[in-house]
Amino acid sequence: KRVAVLISGRGSNMMALVEAARQPDFPGEIVAVLADKPEAAGLAFAAEAGIEGRAFPRRDYGSKAEHEAAFVAAIEAARADIVCLAGFMRLLSADFVERYRGRLINIHPSLLPKFPGLDTHGRAIAAGESEHGCTVHFVTAEMDAGPAIAQARVPVLPGDTPDSLAARVLKEEHRLYPQALATVLRGEARFESA
Ligand code: GRF
Repeated sequence: KRVAVLISGRGSNMMALVEAARQPDFPGEIVAVLADKPEAAGLAFAAEAGIEGRAFPRRDYGSKAEHEAAFVAAIEAARADIVCLAGFMRLLSADFVERYRGRLINIHPSLLPKFPGLDTHGRAIAAGESEHGCTVHFVTAEMDAGPAIAQARVPVLPGDTPDSLAARVLKEEHRLYPQALATVLRGEARFESA
């Protein structure tokens, strides 16, 4: 199966997916890395890895619909079956989400349904949580709310800052996302049954 990854920035989760997909037993390949920011660091990595990388800046398009249509065209051109959001910082329209229903997944740095949205690590610390983590989930039109595919947990330690906690979670993200993607690619996690 063919996988497209959408990023906005650093792209470390995308890199983890690319590394995992290089293993001979991985049930899919990363065929395109698509960004909404030309300066996304992950695009350079994709280029080095020999993967098609393209950027579609919002300012080049007259409307959100036209902007999303550019992503759709690139996903279709790459003949991708599955779309992974990896630090993609735009809320996708219901149209886009519906088009890829059951084939669009995201990683979010919290134990959803706790802490959807931004600054999850700071909020987990402020809430006095003893546990935090990350969730891979199917994307629905409502942000960070679709059915979970897999979660990983880490402890919140005394003295943690948002950065120290983020680093602990990120390590787990890099392990969890490839594993969760593999279950989707193998048909072991489905939208209906999730
Ligand atoms: C990750 O923590 C991801 O869960 C969140 O944004 C961060 C992106 O990091 N949505 P990267 O671009 O994958 O390095």
